[in-house]
Amino acid sequence: MKNKMLISPSVLAADFLNLEKEMEKVKTADFLHLDIMDGHFVPNISYGPDIVKFLKKVSKVPFDVHLMISHPLKYLDNFKDTADVISFHIECDDNPFEVIDKIVSMGKKAAIAIKPGTPVEEAFKYIETGKLYMVLVMTVEPGFGGQSFMAEQMEKVKVLKKKYPDLLIEADGGINNKTIDACREAGLDIAVAGTAVFRAENPEKAIENLR
Ligand code: DX5
Ligand code: ZN
Repeated sequence: MKNKMLISPSVLAADFLNLEKEMEKVKTADFLHLDIMDGHFVPNISYGPDIVKFLKKVSKVPFDVHLMISHPLKYLDNFKDTADVISFHIECDDNPFEVIDKIVSMGKKAAIAIKPGTPVEEAFKYIETGKLYMVLVMTVEPGFGGQSFMAEQMEKVKVLKKKYPDLLIEADGGINNKTIDACREAGLDIAVAGTAVFRAENPEKAIENLR
């Protein structure tokens, strides 16, 4: 039987007025997913590194930081005390090889993310550096929570798991009790879930159900 799916709740769907209590609700999660947006790479602005620092004080879960920003190189240092895994988009304006090297030199786990319109083949040359911990496959257009899952993106997960069985694959966007089965079938390792966890009546139970 396949291992349990790892769950990374996305803070974007949390109650921002009660973040400390929200962290308590997801303490059984495998990671905490933190969406950083710059209003340029994506048409939305979320929260920044200072909020992530406050969250770090009240959460023991490893931090999975997802940078949806045009210039990751400029901001990586801001996550040196908080991030465990840092993913950035290969569609950004910096040189992805340089970004990977910088993340690794910080002692962090490096990951690349790909938007729905980016062919999976474009990830291969970065994976083949042997420096990546994870690849994040977007299952919605990045920028907003609460969108519908793009099932066809699971083809990318299948291709990646077949070609690189030891690499961790994460999917992000629209994952809930209905869409998680397609993720499991595709061989996904880590599921990000915002709405499905933080908006659930019982987030701890929602995490367990998704697993
Ligand atoms: C979208 C973000 C996601 C988002 C997922 O740009 O990267 O992490 O929070 O939210 P749900 O699970 O609600 O689709
Ligand atoms: Zn995300």
